[in-house]
Amino acid sequence: MESMNIEIDYTAHEENVTANGGPGDWGGLNPFEPDYRVNPYPQINALRENDPVNLTPVNTWRISRFDDIGHVLRHAKTSQTLSDGSSPGFNPLDERGSFHDFMLNKDGETHARLRQLVVRSLNMKTVKKMENSVEETVKEIMDKAMAEGGLDLIKDMAMVIPSRMVCSIVGIPEEDREMFDLLTAQRTNAFFGRFLPPENQKATAQAGNDMADYFEDLIAKRKKNPGDDLISELLLSAKQDSTLSEYDLISQTIGLVIAGFETTIGLIGNGTRALLENPDQLAILRDDPSKVNATIEEGLRYDTPVHFIWRVLTEPFEVGGKMLPKDAVLWLHLAAGNRDPRRFEDPDTFNILREKNANVSFGGGAHFCLGNQLARMEARHALLEFCERTKGVTVTPDEIIWSPSFFRVMGHYPLNFS
Ligand code: HEM
Repeated sequence: MESMNIEIDYTAHEENVTANGGPGDWGGLNPFEPDYRVNPYPQINALRENDPVNLTPVNTWRISRFDDIGHVLRHAKTSQTLSDGSSPGFNPLDERGSFHDFMLNKDGETHARLRQLVVRSLNMKTVKKMENSVEETVKEIMDKAMAEGGLDLIKDMAMVIPSRMVCSIVGIPEEDREMFDLLTAQRTNAFFGRFLPPENQKATAQAGNDMADYFEDLIAKRKKNPGDDLISELLLSAKQDSTLSEYDLISQTIGLVIAGFETTIGLIGNGTRALLENPDQLAILRDDPSKVNATIEEGLRYDTPVHFIWRVLTEPFEVGGKMLPKDAVLWLHLAAGNRDPRRFEDPDTFNILREKNANVSFGGGAHFCLGNQLARMEARHALLEFCERTKGVTVTPDEIIWSPSFFRVMGHYPLNFS
């Protein structure tokens, strides 16, 4: 997929972050450095040990210990926006198709109301109904891979599953899916759009515009011809609730498509890679497939797809021995917390038999990931089928190409079977 290969310059651009310009330092861990993607864990571990509540040069506080992250999520009074209503991460000039009106950027009752609109489309019952379709997709992918002697785990499997599922939930027809994958990958960068150089901001904004155009059209079609999909359901809700604009619907739909895409690619891709790089663990799973859920939890912990989430303090709050002021922007470093030795024994080891494996990969509090059950179900089928079908086969990975995405996700992971 082309846009996964577009090299994005993530260097935090001074001119874009003047509102945030601060006196801090990166403490050896700058997520805008291209190298951050290859193996960030030595620096993550050093940051967590040396400066667990770290003020960055873009004036955000990085919280990297497991208990401190939990403390903020449970006890701090926070908002998703600054007190002037602007987002600490999105490009303020970004308009159409932006995340400003997505539930993840909202607080309190507005947030709860928007969340409620899509809960039904992602609950256990709905996820269960989608299981057959995921199973069929995975089988089809592995049939082809076995016949061809390998696959690109990302392009041929990890991307296809969430893309098909999210599109079917929302109501995007199959023929538009690949175009949508490109737009989604490009638009994902908008989560931290404020920090991107102008040319990347432009491409990201264009993807937002294209997505908004697309959904305007689709909504018009569903108004005439309702279907069994999220857009049709949202339209019904909008009829009953005059405070819900069509634009709110577009924002939730775009946000949902993006939230469910690269994150899940990260889980399936990083989880499979961890198994291949730890053959003893792969053997355990092959011998006892009932360990698949534990494998997924360990995959989420060991190579966390979403490295950090944000919160803004609405009143001063003490964390890790530092008193942070109102309006402080916190980056909760989930990947760092998930490798905290205070919480996890031998945290840099991938161990699917780990007993205490509850992690923070899906965030927490009111914004706890709504798609966690769907993502886990998709990963379960992908890992099981992959392990089963490649039993007795030598799997040789070629070079990994990291995606420029702000999430931790490979762009390509070619595997050869022999
Ligand atoms: C392994 C895959 C996934 C990971 C690691 C992940 C991670 C996250 C994280 C970290 C958050 C922010 C939580 C917070 O700020 O406390 C989030 C929010 C969200 N996720 Fe996921 N996610 C995944 C898959 C999905 C899927 C498949 C969907 C839906 C199709 C989805 C929908 C959402 C939504 C709607 C929110 C916003 C919830 C709110 O603001 O109330 N996610 N996710």
